[in-house]
Amino acid sequence: MPNDTGLVPPLPRADIIAAALPGLTAMRKTLPAMLFYDQEGCRLFYRITELPEYYLTRTEMALLPTLPTDIVPSGMRDGILVEFGGSDETKARFLLDRPGRPFSAYMPIDVAAESLEAMRVRMARTQPWLSVLPVVGDFMQPLRLPGVAGRAMGFFPGSTIGNLDPVAAAGFLRSARQSLGEGARFLLGADLRKSPKVLLPAYNDAAGVTAAFNLNVLRRLNREAGADFDLASFRHEAVWNDAESRIEMHLISTRDQEARLADTAIRFREGESIHTENSYKHRQETLIQIVRDAGWNLLKVFQDDAGLFAELLLQA
Ligand code: TRP
Repeated sequence: MPNDTGLVPPLPRADIIAAALPGLTAMRKTLPAMLFYDQEGCRLFYRITELPEYYLTRTEMALLPTLPTDIVPSGMRDGILVEFGGSDETKARFLLDRPGRPFSAYMPIDVAAESLEAMRVRMARTQPWLSVLPVVGDFMQPLRLPGVAGRAMGFFPGSTIGNLDPVAAAGFLRSARQSLGEGARFLLGADLRKSPKVLLPAYNDAAGVTAAFNLNVLRRLNREAGADFDLASFRHEAVWNDAESRIEMHLISTRDQEARLADTAIRFREGESIHTENSYKHRQETLIQIVRDAGWNLLKVFQDDAGLFAELLLQA
């Protein structure tokens, strides 16, 4: 995930329009989640991770240092750690800084180019033994990692896996297994299904930071793509969809209205939604099914004492 320290370069206007328009003109309106993470969005997401209601980051950060040393096998000497969707090394350092320093290279993959560069510069000072090899791009794309057989470990923290539907999640994990090669390991962080009384506040906090984060996507379309959304006429809504086992994020139009994006009129009825994100909260058994469907062997599941969050250790 992008953090609040680096700069995210602006996307070209045409790319933003191409990403936004199909979903906004569909029968059921949607916007792609990647549009959240402009500079302001990164800053707001970082604030979300520090909210009292948003237990995810805090719980995972407490869980990671308790994992046993042998999650990284001894044969991994001179290995490479590949982090999917990482532009902040805080979580990876729990693996990189382990006694014996099992990794000699670290490859974070993220769309936030300037955050990655800032991280590379920072880590040259703090982890001088490490080759930091950032890849700017979509972590969903297959990778080429020549000559790392048996020495590669994947890392996908933060429950970003939950932002993919189960089929896409298995597809991503299968492709990551191909990229990392035979003998690879993978550490997957995932938020678990729990009471909507806990889940809903995490996605609709009292201070309104999540609402601001969600609404920022419309502000970005106004600022960077010349749209004219009336921000005061949309409100943030988080819904628990029990059948799909996911939190859904929506922006709800509070009146009949029309907005324009790139000469296209987008009409809203009062109460109509733009569906902006899903965050799946699977049971442990469902997660295990997904990783097995993707061809990984499950070695172990670690959880915090309250059973909020899991780390799955996988072997190719
Ligand atoms: N990966 C985060 C999650 O699902 C992203 C996120 C947190 C998010 N809060 C949000 C996305 C609010 C959209 C709106 O927990």
